Amino acid sequence: MDIKSTTDLSWDEFDELRDPRPAGNDFDRVVEAALSRRGFLSGAVAFGSGAMVFGSGVLGSATSAQAQAAGFAFEPIGTATDFDVHVPEGYQWKPLVRWGDALFSEADGAYSPEIGVPVEMSDKVFGENTDGMELFDVDGKEIITINSEYVNPDINLPADSEGVPKNADEVTLLKNMQGVTVMEIADNGNGYEVVKDSPYNRRITHETEMTMDGPAAGSDLVKTNADPEGMSPKGTMNNCGSGRTLWGTYLTCEENFNGYFGATGEYDETDGFVRYGIGAEGRYAYEKFDERYDLSKEPNEPNRHGWVTEINPSDPESTPVKHTALGRFKHENAAMAQAADGRIVVYMGDDERGEFMYKYVSNGTWAEGQPTDGLLSDGTLFVAKFNEDQTGEWLALTPESTGMELADLLVHARIAGSKVGATTMDRPEWIAVNPLKAEAYCALTNNKNRGVKPNAGGDETPVGGPNPRETNNFGQIVRWRPENDDHGTVDFTWDLYVMAGNPEVYDNAYAGSENVTPGNMFNSPDGMIFDTKGTLWIQTDGDYSNEGEFAGQGNNQMLAGNTETGEIARFLTAPYGAEVTGLCWSLDKKVAFVGIQHPGGSWPDGEGKPRSSVIAVWREDGEAVG
Ligand code: FEO
Ligand code: CA
Ligand code: CA
Repeated sequence: MDIKSTTDLSWDEFDELRDPRPAGNDFDRVVEAALSRRGFLSGAVAFGSGAMVFGSGVLGSATSAQAQAAGFAFEPIGTATDFDVHVPEGYQWKPLVRWGDALFSEADGAYSPEIGVPVEMSDKVFGENTDGMELFDVDGKEIITINSEYVNPDINLPADSEGVPKNADEVTLLKNMQGVTVMEIADNGNGYEVVKDSPYNRRITHETEMTMDGPAAGSDLVKTNADPEGMSPKGTMNNCGSGRTLWGTYLTCEENFNGYFGATGEYDETDGFVRYGIGAEGRYAYEKFDERYDLSKEPNEPNRHGWVTEINPSDPESTPVKHTALGRFKHENAAMAQAADGRIVVYMGDDERGEFMYKYVSNGTWAEGQPTDGLLSDGTLFVAKFNEDQTGEWLALTPESTGMELADLLVHARIAGSKVGATTMDRPEWIAVNPLKAEAYCALTNNKNRGVKPNAGGDETPVGGPNPRETNNFGQIVRWRPENDDHGTVDFTWDLYVMAGNPEVYDNAYAGSENVTPGNMFNSPDGMIFDTKGTLWIQTDGDYSNEGEFAGQGNNQMLAGNTETGEIARFLTAPYGAEVTGLCWSLDKKVAFVGIQHPGGSWPDGEGKPRSSVIAVWREDGEAVG
């Protein structure tokens, strides 16, 4: 496998190369699971989804309850296969910020359609491949924080590079196109724009100084030559989904960090490296130009990544904090809730085939205006176990339950989860907490290995429970309700809100649940965010070939879900090639900001390179969006 080939792979294809386990051939087990699946499906539909009634017409100033009962404030749109964005009639969109747009005046004109961004301006512009984002009210100013998940070397490097950096400057360029952007935006009468040179504008990259807290901070597992105390990691990487704290800070979630490390010499292939997919060859060849990424020089450096990292958007001088108490894995997003007694709860997914869902519960409690010290550093990490009878339990990961030391079980949360028998899931992506009732949702995007082969730790991935289809190429959304309507409890009940599928190709479980129709079908739910009215917005990152079992599904899309009726309606379609990822709103809720990652063609400029962008979407009549 040469470097060129790794840059052509998706992140999950890259991980498959790191998981050499052969496909299983347990025919009896698969058949048995398929039989029980039929029983499960009938139960799940009755328990979960209601009648399918498509909304129509535009609602005026309905209350949230009326809107929920009647449908959505838009006419659903059809699929698309072109290189543009489409929204419903009565809505408009335009780019808010594109890869390479200046955050500071000195970077004006830095981007060119021919070469992209020069290295000397690369930390003064908006990064590539937008992902999770949140918007904050900072003294009345609108400050948006946006992840740039990864980088496309083919687009950023010179044409003759073949996607591989050839010197340290090119590595720096790739590093700076990723990370997090904090920036002020404002609507000065011509729609939202970046406020250039705002004191809040900031790029946080692979090199930004950080701190760590929680039980693994300062442990031997996170000490390096450059940081013998193990308290001052550098940088945040592969920033995927997002979260926000109740106290107004940003949570950026480090996902496929494993792919940034490689080795120029001998190194120990530990169980931890194997479980997390860390190997000799990095995706971007960083290890050839920077010892920090070289496993033969700094074997503990990967342990300093894969965390939830907190950023204070109101203080551009603040130091980001990696919270080790929340566990190290391939974090998708971080959805915060509060227990009845005031403890802080954070739900988190680990996006890899057959990995787990987690929740963190703080020991301390919080209320508005109180100190936040310790809330994300002193608590217990739990992992989810789902039972066939639609009950489940959060299993505490402790030295007693796992036989592992506390720092070790946090650094290797996957291994700890395996020890307590957590349920292997179909790639947990975003989790969303319903603001109107005590329940939460996780997008299980797809899992071609379900019922076929174990996860990288050897845990079986049987068909059943919330993962009811073998070779699951469509995905589903699981919903759980905590006991006593209290996110702080360990017992829950669950059902499936939707099983994606294609009712025009299949007449079995792969057709999807009853709330999937030829008019709204999709595959691979990924981003998922509730608006304040309780509408569940679902963004997809799936197969956009529009062929075979995906025929009729078109490009990736964003849909609105009514969680009471099960109704789902398509709101937006992305340009060919893109996934839709990240969603937040202006303070007055009149504008939705939507991420369009890795578009194809020359979107949105119409010429030159494709530019990952955040777009603004609004209603022509000036009413709120979501
Ligand atoms: Fe970055 Fe799992 O998506
Ligand atoms: Ca995602
Ligand atoms: Ca995805």
